[in-house]
Amino acid sequence: MRVLVLGSGAREHALAWRLARDEGVEVWCAPGNAGVEAVAKVVPVDLSDVAAVVSLARAEGIDLVVVGPEAPLVAGVVDALEDAGIAAFGPNRAAARLEGSKVFAKELMARHGVPTAGFRVFDDPDAACAYIRAASRPLVVKADGLAAGKGVVVADGPEDAVAAVDHIMRERAFGDAGARVLIEERLVGPEVSYHVVSDGERYVALASAQDHKRAFDGDRGPNTGGMGAYSPAPMVTPEVERAICERVVEPTLRGMAAEGAAFRGALFIGLMIVDGAPFVLEYNVRFGDPECEALMARWDGPVLPLFMGSARGDLREVRPACGAPASVCVVLASAGYPGAYDKGKRVDGLDEAAGVEGVTVFHAGTRREAGATVTSGGRVLAVTAVGEDIDDAAARAYRAVECVRFEGKQLRRDIGWQARRRLG
Ligand code: AMP
Ligand code: GLY
Repeated sequence: MRVLVLGSGAREHALAWRLARDEGVEVWCAPGNAGVEAVAKVVPVDLSDVAAVVSLARAEGIDLVVVGPEAPLVAGVVDALEDAGIAAFGPNRAAARLEGSKVFAKELMARHGVPTAGFRVFDDPDAACAYIRAASRPLVVKADGLAAGKGVVVADGPEDAVAAVDHIMRERAFGDAGARVLIEERLVGPEVSYHVVSDGERYVALASAQDHKRAFDGDRGPNTGGMGAYSPAPMVTPEVERAICERVVEPTLRGMAAEGAAFRGALFIGLMIVDGAPFVLEYNVRFGDPECEALMARWDGPVLPLFMGSARGDLREVRPACGAPASVCVVLASAGYPGAYDKGKRVDGLDEAAGVEGVTVFHAGTRREAGATVTSGGRVLAVTAVGEDIDDAAARAYRAVECVRFEGKQLRRDIGWQARRRLG
């Protein structure tokens, strides 16, 4: 069985690593990074070129394509692969609108009774600003389309919200993604995320996980793609989990199927818990990064049936398989990330880090240069450990982190703080 993983981050390294441990599975990864080479055949491809992806899968005789990031999904890579007779894990273009258009997602939630913050949609910036000035409640302004995680402004007051509308709609900071905005009521409560894998009808709920979006300890500093993650997340109690499944996951999947856009693939839901009840902040149509690293590290047993079952529309025989009780993933980033950063710094100590028991070092922004591994992105590595509990996993991950050396190494020291008895 030949599986091609699409993407180049630590999420894709973790997926390729886990798939490569399944018996009889050979893994390809495109475009990959320096670390994926250890578990997969790495081949170049431009992920924005759907036809090139299909030709690559054909040329290599691929049986299943696992799509990591959202952009190719929203662009219809799964539709093109299926038209070519190649199984693909991930939603088709119609179902990927759950992430590709926040307006589509909110209207779907409204039609199917999925709890979410009240909202209005505007395609005219003057009308949006007039609404903001007349409203007396705290608001959140969101660009409709994909904006690399930067299109959401939790406004401190009306002036802030108006500035966000100007930035998104008039200045078109995110291009056409800002042709429409959503203005939402601001909710208050702890945030959790929840991952399921669906076959369009049934779903397998994965373990809970939580990432750390801010750059610095204590949840301070600018938002990033995620500086670390841990699993399980204690806020997701059995009651909260039941509420998420019954009030959010099931009506979402039923609604999508009823509207002719059955959702297959990984659905990663961002939620806020308000007075014990879950409200959807956003849908993502792929695994979270670095949540995926924490989840794959804990997955026990074969993982191909999960991806193939989802792609083929039949997850009846698949059960979640959690082995290790806990995992912690610490991201090592380049100095300056999420702002400007240098590339090409030599990375040392990777073997020592991987030698710490329970640790796997997933690569994100790395490449090979004259036999050495050098940095090539903002997030460089995702050092991931399993353990008996979060403290144990964190201790191992941070021991491994100390082994890795590169100029400007930036990290958070408090990953998993919500679930740790002690820090350090
Ligand atoms: P999103 O990309 O829609 O998940 O938004 C990014 C972040 O903005 C979330 O993780 C929340 O911290 C915050 N956010 C989004 N929507 C709301 C809301 N309605 N109320 C409060 N905070 C929100
Ligand atoms: N860790 C957040 C994301 O993948 O969107």
